[in-house]
Amino acid sequence: MNYIGSKLSLLEFLEESINKVVDKNCDTFCDLFAGTGIVGSYFKRKGYKIIANDIQYYSYVLNRHYIGNHKELSFLKLTKELSDLKNIEVKNRKKFVCDYLSNLKGVKGFIYKNYCLGGTKDKEEPRQYFSDENGMRCDAIRQKIENWKEKNLISDDEYYFLITSLVESIDKYANTASVYGAFLKKLKRTAQNNLILKPAELIINDQDHEVFNEDINTVAGKIAGDILYLDPPYNQRQYATNYHMLETIAKYDNPEIHGKTGLREYQNQKSLYCSRTQVKKAFKDLILKAKAKYIFLSYNNEGLMTLDDIKEIMSLRGKYGNFTKEYNRFKADKSENRNYTANKTTEYLHYVVCNN
Ligand SMILES: C[S@@+](CC[C@H](N)C(=O)[O-])C[C@H]1O[C@@H](n2cnc3c(N)ncnc32)[C@H](O)[C@@H]1O
Repeated sequence: MNYIGSKLSLLEFLEESINKVVDKNCDTFCDLFAGTGIVGSYFKRKGYKIIANDIQYYSYVLNRHYIGNHKELSFLKLTKELSDLKNIEVKNRKKFVCDYLSNLKGVKGFIYKNYCLGGTKDKEEPRQYFSDENGMRCDAIRQKIENWKEKNLISDDEYYFLITSLVESIDKYANTASVYGAFLKKLKRTAQNNLILKPAELIINDQDHEVFNEDINTVAGKIAGDILYLDPPYNQRQYATNYHMLETIAKYDNPEIHGKTGLREYQNQKSLYCSRTQVKKAFKDLILKAKAKYIFLSYNNEGLMTLDDIKEIMSLRGKYGNFTKEYNRFKADKSENRNYTANKTTEYLHYVVCNN
């Protein structure tokens, strides 16, 4: 997923830098601002036990699947409803179930009625986040997944796999420049294609992992690990508003929405790490309560906290250091078509070797 602050292109830099600092006896890696789960997934593949957390529910879902799921999904109970599943080899069942869902007839549910032109054209705020067809497909798929869960036809692991597949897939058909803070006036090309549910990748290994959906300053007091990796928001852009659509598809809770973009209520997901006046206090509290041997922090040179702020706070726990890398930042320009222009920024990986 194209996610603000994704570390997809920095994974090797992170690993190489972390390996220069940590000792050989580390086996737990905590990724507590987990976002897409790409960092945790990478270190899960390297054999670590992962503890993941994020305040957004869609992110919890992604991490609950990419991190939490680590055994093959057999869809055993679903054979009651999809009898052909019995004839499918277990490793191919994920795709079979996704294909079945992709072929459902669309229905006019919450997404169609509130975020597609067909459902909103006569309302005060017409919206076009998806084509009518994709809004209806999304509703049909989401309702079927919930219905299977209510009828106890799928396990929790299977449920999170399916919702992850939907969140990842629908994002590719969104009629937006990149995030959900606004939609485009005309349906762009990729938004015109019909939604196909692509099975999310399953990373199989024999470790048990833990996944939370809480404010980091709460979780940090409850868990302990060898390596704590922190990747907070760098600026004032709240994830709750930029990804509200994915939150609503993941939760599918018929929220009250308002305004041009159909925003859901997000007071309890407002991040202190996006507030110029509160970020330092929250970060200091986090660093002081974290239970880890090593703490790493990704941040760039344009973030709300200065390098001196970070150094001062992290040094409270022990010996501080950092690594840097030039990075191509993608920025949406203000023109109608929102072409992307790349410009450079310096990405930092700060660390502290904790004294206790
Ligand atoms: C820079 S992104 C992380 C990106 C992630 N490393 C990746 O590569 O996908 C920051 C994440 O922190 C989450 N977040 C912001 N404030 C939070 C808080 N107080 N507690 C937990 N998560 C928070 C956001 O929802 C967002 O997913």
